[in-house]
Amino acid sequence: MRVGVFDSGVGGLSVLESLLKARLFEHIIYYGDTARVPYGPKDPATIAKFSLEALDFFKPHNIDMLVVACNSVSAWALPAMRAKAQIPIVGVIEAGVLAITQSTPKDTPILVLGTKATIASGRYARELGAQGYTCVNSLAAGLLVPLIEEGVLEGALLEACMEYYFAPLKVAPAVVVLGCTHFPWIANSLQKYFTSRFKTPVRLVHSGEAIVARLKQVYHLKAHTHTQLELFASGDKELLEQLANPLKAL
Ligand code: DGL
Repeated sequence: MRVGVFDSGVGGLSVLESLLKARLFEHIIYYGDTARVPYGPKDPATIAKFSLEALDFFKPHNIDMLVVACNSVSAWALPAMRAKAQIPIVGVIEAGVLAITQSTPKDTPILVLGTKATIASGRYARELGAQGYTCVNSLAAGLLVPLIEEGVLEGALLEACMEYYFAPLKVAPAVVVLGCTHFPWIANSLQKYFTSRFKTPVRLVHSGEAIVARLKQVYHLKAHTHTQLELFASGDKELLEQLANPLKAL
């Protein structure tokens, strides 16, 4: 089976890693819209337009399924994409919510981090609220995305940015949802920040594993021995290649 994986930039590689480990697909075609990243500060109509253009990119690749490895796109563009495409399109938000509901008590203090677009959509808060979660706080932390796209994954600049966003937090979260697929790239720095600030480690949730679980359940996919990987970008491919390199050995 040939699958496309789409993100605005390098974020979707965090989902790609889980897909490669699970070996669910014979062929993965990754496309990052690095020329137009970040999507998070853009309005819903622009995000939907770019996402439909990504479908055009995948057309000649004859994919059987598309994994949208971007929360901002999953929040705003899935209905338009599904209306245009003839193949199944799987988003990350349902998977992230599933990962929480399967293992987290309802009164757990949960902090959802995402881009401005994802947080403005209210999707995580709404879906978790509908599942009975009573202590969900959502925070847009979009400046982290361009830092990550610049390869700033630790250090003083990142710490200053985390402090800018997280200093006003009053409640110590027990679970932090990485509601942007870029954020697993700074998981260590985030864990370090929250542990030193609130004196206790947090559980970081990222949707890669949950997507794998969902794909197995819904599409009954079986593991293959080898996955062929192709990487594409609309603009700069350097960081994409650099971060994807260790994944090729999986
Ligand atoms: N990685 C994406 C997400 O999950 C997009 C980040 C961005 O382009 O702003 O939301």
